[in-house]
Amino acid sequence: MKPNIGIIGFMGTGKTSVGKALARQIGMHFEDSDDMVEQMAGKQVSRIFAENGEEYFRHLESLAVRDLCQRKHHVLSFGGGVLFSQENIEHIRRVSKVILLKASPLTIHERLLRDNSRPLLETENERLRAIIDLMRLRENLYARACDIEIDTDGKDINCIVTEICRRLHL
Ligand code: S3P
Repeated sequence: MKPNIGIIGFMGTGKTSVGKALARQIGMHFEDSDDMVEQMAGKQVSRIFAENGEEYFRHLESLAVRDLCQRKHHVLSFGGGVLFSQENIEHIRRVSKVILLKASPLTIHERLLRDNSRPLLETENERLRAIIDLMRLRENLYARACDIEIDTDGKDINCIVTEICRRLHL
């Protein structure tokens, strides 16, 4: 039995909200890689990108993944770009049953409409286009890294948590 549940997926698929609700429901602890990176750097993700660049963010993110993967009995939520490192994937899969949360580009666009905390979506081009392009680049990586895929379009948090519990036989 893997000791943790890992949640992965694109920005705006609800990883943090679902992860917290799932952890509450099944009596596990919750941790989030972006929170840990922010604690390490002492500033928000958007400021890390702006002041130190994406490469530095990815370095901190990999350190956070290693640290989080030493936990037991945790629901772990990982930032959407964590799978660009094969080493991160291996750490996560070694200790977690991995759930991929999915949503359509339009849903993500709507969910993040008034959100400016995602530097990779602060592009000069149209935002929906940026979401579609980035998702296309990543979808195979996500699909290959997960044990279970859950579509979140049109579903609320409770409904998603119930589906995860059913699929994991919890
Ligand atoms: C990123 C996703 C973000 C955050 C950073 C980069 C990505 O986390 O780690 O902005 O590359 O997809 P969420 O997936 O929690 O939004």
